[in-house]
Amino acid sequence: MAGSVRGVHLAGWGAYAPSLVLTNADLEKMVETSDEWIFSRTGIRERRIAGPDETTASMAAVAGLRAIAVAGLQPDDIDLILVGTLTPDYPMPSTAALVKDAIGNKRAAAMDLAAACSGFVFGYATGQAYIGSGMANHVLVIGAETLSRATDFTDRGTCLLFGDGAGAVVLSASDEPGGTLGIEMTTEPSGAYFIWLPAGGAARPASDQTLKAREHYMKMKGSETFKMAVRTLGSTSLRALEKAGLDRADVDLVIPHQANIRIIEALGKALDFPMEKIFVNVDRYGNTSAASVPLALAEAVGSGRVKKGDRLLLVAFGAGLTSGAIALEWTADPAASARADAIGPGDVKVLPGYLDPVNPFPPALEWLLERSEQGSPK
Ligand code: UT7
Repeated sequence: MAGSVRGVHLAGWGAYAPSLVLTNADLEKMVETSDEWIFSRTGIRERRIAGPDETTASMAAVAGLRAIAVAGLQPDDIDLILVGTLTPDYPMPSTAALVKDAIGNKRAAAMDLAAACSGFVFGYATGQAYIGSGMANHVLVIGAETLSRATDFTDRGTCLLFGDGAGAVVLSASDEPGGTLGIEMTTEPSGAYFIWLPAGGAARPASDQTLKAREHYMKMKGSETFKMAVRTLGSTSLRALEKAGLDRADVDLVIPHQANIRIIEALGKALDFPMEKIFVNVDRYGNTSAASVPLALAEAVGSGRVKKGDRLLLVAFGAGLTSGAIALEWTADPAASARADAIGPGDVKVLPGYLDPVNPFPPALEWLLERSEQGSPK
């Protein structure tokens, strides 16, 4: 890629989704809505919810270990760990520091990246810069979210959209042809307050007043976000392709941020990508913010949608408003996906010292736990 001293290849991929499932029928019982409305306006059928023992760090660690295994590496081969998230376990220490401990890495630098739903793509671009300049050989880039803990389950305008999960990739230096071909990133602060989480930061520290006003939950101007998303996803994609020296017709598979099927379809229409060339799993996970693109990528590769030599376009947008796109040529063996199967939550170090002694599970969803204990996840 222009500007890189060394080539950067996507060498490993992995994902983790918690097992609790929140369906549209469940939401019908919580707010004034219907399965028909939710599905026709968003394409979402269900989303995953992190269990009481799960956090952004714990899910990120499983996805990260899977990506490292798929790459055929050991945790200590990783030089830098980047976690894109808007729901870190804590403002400090970084979630990436917790992940480093959980995966048993002894030598990487670790830090979080705040770019909301574009967090993974911005993390990829950062990993690219570290490897391309020679500062790192292997970078673990993770997108992970526990959005259920920042969702207002009394707000029908937002609570139907979001879900929890994690996805990760390993980026590695290699002078083989292919790998990353072009990257574009933008931030448009004119849309900064379209999606925001008002309280808990330096501008509005936690207080009785902020709690009463429910300002610790995500707020969103849905239709303004929708329009800006369609515009920026299209322009960012085109600029990344241009930098990569690719035409739209050269793209074999688009992996967009899974926010809303109507946004994805509008992107396809605007750029002339037939839906067969666009990977969609929003129906099963909803919008998992920074986790969305790497979760979709791991599923796409694992389900045989990607082969060596394919040109992929990864594209995201999110609060900020941020947007980022990556054009790359796939060089790894998709069959390596199977190496992730051996790794589960039991393989990451439990973080008792870091986890809250109080139950972090959203009170509005406590019935979901009873249902899963009774053995009916749906
Ligand atoms: O990662 C980025 C995160 N954000 C996004 O991607 C969000 C982008 N925006 C969206 O996905 C859509 O704007 C929504 C799905 C949030 C909403 O869809 P919309 O087509 O923009 O609906 P709307 O907000 O314009 O509302 C249309 C109608 C309104 O009723 P009236 O005023 O026409 O009578 C709403 O009150 O639908 C009503 N409505 C609902 N009805 C049933 C809003 N939410 C619901 C609901 N169930 N949950």
